[in-house]
Amino acid sequence: MKPIDSVLALVRPEILALTPYSSARKESSGGRVWLDANENPLTPHAGAPRLNRYPDPQPPELIARLASLYGVVPDRVLVTRGSDEGIDLLLRAFCRAGQDSIVITPPTYGMYAVAAGIQGAAVRSAPLERDQDFALDVGAVLAAVDASVKLVFLCSPNNPTGQLLACDSVRHVVDALAGRAIVVIDEAYGEFASEPSFAGELAERPNLVVLRTLSKAFGLAGARVGATLATPELIAVLKKIIAPYPIPTPVANAALEALAPHAIAAARRSALGLVEQRRRLAAGLAELPAVRRVWPSDANFLLVEVTDSARVMSVARAAGLILRDRSKDVPNTVRITVGSPEETAFALETLARA
Ligand SMILES: Cc1ncc(COP(=O)(O)O)c(C=O)c1O
Repeated sequence: MKPIDSVLALVRPEILALTPYSSARKESSGGRVWLDANENPLTPHAGAPRLNRYPDPQPPELIARLASLYGVVPDRVLVTRGSDEGIDLLLRAFCRAGQDSIVITPPTYGMYAVAAGIQGAAVRSAPLERDQDFALDVGAVLAAVDASVKLVFLCSPNNPTGQLLACDSVRHVVDALAGRAIVVIDEAYGEFASEPSFAGELAERPNLVVLRTLSKAFGLAGARVGATLATPELIAVLKKIIAPYPIPTPVANAALEALAPHAIAAARRSALGLVEQRRRLAAGLAELPAVRRVWPSDANFLLVEVTDSARVMSVARAAGLILRDRSKDVPNTVRITVGSPEETAFALETLARA
């Protein structure tokens, strides 16, 4: 079997057989008078940015800019409503309800298990090694994979712990599962990390999928723009099941602006600034009596073990400082996002009182 056939063999057969909805904007291009999509030409929105018209399902210019940003060819890019939609589409494409499973490595991002629950897929856990700074337990991941497992989600840098997974361990898992399962590497926080993206390895590894987002380093969380990067055949499968018009016109325009060369340079500078704030926040926290431990982070947040998370949360809330209690993942921990210099100072001042 060719490597790509072994990837397609993992897709739900009914999705492979599905005839997707063919929207008006998919079928038509060019022309002068558009009477094909039951739109309304007689509206105040008929001028720029033409909100009376359906948007392009996958705007080519946006795809081209995302492809160039992530260093892949455009055929390997699907633009989605945040990377959360990419997670959901993967679950729906690969997992049959009541039959198939995914593997996650807790503590990790909650949406993998939620998307699995919605789809009726079982969730198997291969916990990160807590006493090794949350390192990937390669043996546990591989042991969790049986014939029912279609997707393995690895989050790097991981939310909520902040660390990158060791690249060699990730590569080992991807290669060991070639032909058996898809490995999804969620790089939502990749711009804050010290290692390059796995996007550069997609061409050699057809069972690899990389998730990226404009929500974090590009500051567009409110616009909802994510990218799923994968082998072109897999992108074609996901295009069969994504909603007909997932990216609203104002969102595509905002993303195009954020991906202009000067804006990319500004986003990179701002990511470097946040990495500097992360260092300052970590150093300040380590001095506080309420703090027991600050884990190293390659993301724009820190996981912090405190003496009493309920007390820290309540002191913070009383001061108007909103943090995230992660004690259900790791006992007595709070997750603190790296903010502006003023916000960092305020957080340190407030937590000094806890
Ligand atoms: C690891 C991880 N993946 C994905 C997401 C979802 O991001 P998006 O805004 O692109 O949907 C988040 C959001 O916090 C996250 O932490």
